[in-house]
Amino acid sequence: MKKILPVAALCSIFFIGCGGAQEPSAEAPAEGGAASELVSGYDLANGKEIYEANCASCHAEGVLSSPKTGDVSAWSARIEQGMDTLIKKSIEGYIAEGSMPARGGNDALTDEEVANSVAYMVNESAK
Ligand code: HEC
Repeated sequence: MKKILPVAALCSIFFIGCGGAQEPSAEAPAEGGAASELVSGYDLANGKEIYEANCASCHAEGVLSSPKTGDVSAWSARIEQGMDTLIKKSIEGYIAEGSMPARGGNDALTDEEVANSVAYMVNESAK
């Protein structure tokens, strides 16, 4: 009997330690695809507000050759540039096929607000 106790104690310590170590990982990654990873860390609720007030006037319907929000084929190659590039071009403005005004034409927007609205558009356009 006296020999069994320490062994039992060891086993239970080992068991607890092992169970704890196995806890993380293993689960399948959350659903949502590429976009959810790209836009994690941005405030999408704020982005939606900024978008509706400043960007939807062009991007909701694709005015002036702008990529229409939700048009996956219009966005896929643009999204491949990466968030940093999309945000930089949105802050500074740029011209290729059409003319994207700096900060959507609203100088009062902060870099963060522009970034959030880009994230919102990407999230809506990459499903
Ligand atoms: C006056 C119309 C207009 C407004 C307002 C506007 N955009 Fe655009 N945007 C465009 C056009 C046009 C393009 C396409 C330009 C091109 O490819 O030549 C574009 C392109 C973009 C792109 C794609 C960039 C790329 O590399 O392809 C992003 C991102 C973007 N706009 C974000 C925004 C955001 C964010 C806002 C609001 C803060 C906004 N736009 C407001 C017209 C507009």
